[in-house]
Amino acid sequence: MALDSQNIEDIVRQVLAGMSGTGAAAPSAGAAAASGNIPTTAHVAMLTALGHFDVKEFPIPPVGDDDILVRVEGTGICGTDQHEFKKDPFGLIPVALGHEGTGEIVKIGKNVTKDSAGKPVKVGDKIVTCMMFKDDPEITMFDLNKKNVGAADVYGLIPDDDIHLNGWFSDYILIKGSRGSTFFNVSDMDLKSRIIIEPAAVLVHAVERAKTTGILRFNSRVCVQGCGPIGLLCVAVLRTMGIENIVTVDGNESRLEFSKKLGATNTVNFMQYKGIDNLANAVKEAFGGHFADFAFQCTGSPIAHSNIYHFIRNGGGLCELGFFINNGDATINPHFDLCSKEINLVGSWVYTLRDYATTFDFLRRAKEIGLPVTDLITDAFPLNKINEAHEFALAQKGLKVAVTNVPLDGNTNNH
Ligand SMILES: NC(=O)c1ccc[n+]([C@@H]2O[C@H](COP(=O)([O-])OP(=O)(O)OC[C@H]3O[C@@H](n4cnc5c(N)ncnc54)[C@H](O)[C@@H]3O)[C@@H](O)[C@H]2O)c1
Repeated sequence: MALDSQNIEDIVRQVLAGMSGTGAAAPSAGAAAASGNIPTTAHVAMLTALGHFDVKEFPIPPVGDDDILVRVEGTGICGTDQHEFKKDPFGLIPVALGHEGTGEIVKIGKNVTKDSAGKPVKVGDKIVTCMMFKDDPEITMFDLNKKNVGAADVYGLIPDDDIHLNGWFSDYILIKGSRGSTFFNVSDMDLKSRIIIEPAAVLVHAVERAKTTGILRFNSRVCVQGCGPIGLLCVAVLRTMGIENIVTVDGNESRLEFSKKLGATNTVNFMQYKGIDNLANAVKEAFGGHFADFAFQCTGSPIAHSNIYHFIRNGGGLCELGFFINNGDATINPHFDLCSKEINLVGSWVYTLRDYATTFDFLRRAKEIGLPVTDLITDAFPLNKINEAHEFALAQKGLKVAVTNVPLDGNTNNH
């Protein structure tokens, strides 16, 4: 069946209706509504040079009939933000960054009555945006060359030349409904879960890609290489879907320890092994004398890509998702690593709109089975300390670092 945008909207609406029983559209909100005192200007952190954000003040424009003005509560720092901060690989400077954001609707245009899944929205609701467009929800990547993309379609990555209220590292963001943007009402989720939605969707998608190989099963032995936020969320998604035999590989002992809390059964610290054969044997031992049926590569290290084939059994599967950007070439031996082992290899990049809906469900289930997924957010910095926050994240001093306008609860260290 050919899927058009209406089909997809219907599917996402059904999924969300099944999860929360709120699939029907709300009656029209009538005229634009507002909540609380809305200032005349917003503070937006613009990356203006390598390694430097300037918090600038821009006027908050009138909210159009298709638009939403959101008071930002918090935003996670993604590896992509860090890549931009360090090297600007996409050549986007000056740009308002931050795409793992969430906040409260303070003003809403009269034409906006429901989110991208058909759930009613109103002033006071909490939302997240999704990088995938309403018009083309099956596309798993966005067009960084802006061939088909309006400037403000991708919040927190694509520069916009006029308004600048389009990155979540800010105190207000303007969602322009007329530009095909997608957003979801996630008012029933706590703030930290909402901040985790975007990176978690990357792993929901990676697992969907892995499933296409037919190798990933309930009793599979699964290796997750890399225990940054991406690898750790991979462990949590696998554990939530019922996979129990998970070995993690990293060189950072505290990250490996945290992976156990999220569902890893055993860990391997690669720093303790000299040579790939010794490391591969350590992984095999961690699985009780077997190589992995399936492996997820969650580092941006070409060496790690070369290594991971050695951890997988003949006929096993590999999902490579660690290279959101080009980090250089990796060496493999096509005969030994791929052909003669008959490895089933898939790549994974970003997510689809449908994966977003699945992610809400994943986070709720993870909470139900007691996985401390939100503990991934170890540190929070206010907007005026955004440069410090990025330096802190780059130095790997925490796990997921957030920039917030309100303090975070639980174990998060508010700086
Ligand atoms: N596919 C996608 O759509 C997508 C989306 C977001 C991020 N990513 C990519 O995922 C990667 C991981 O993201 P993150 O935020 O978790 O990064 P991170 O830097 O916080 O974590 C990477 C981890 O890998 C470990 N590591 C490094 N070399 C290793 C090796 N040889 N063996 C084992 N472990 C090793 C590090 O110690 C670290 O804990 C990044 O490169 C990022 O670009 C991909």
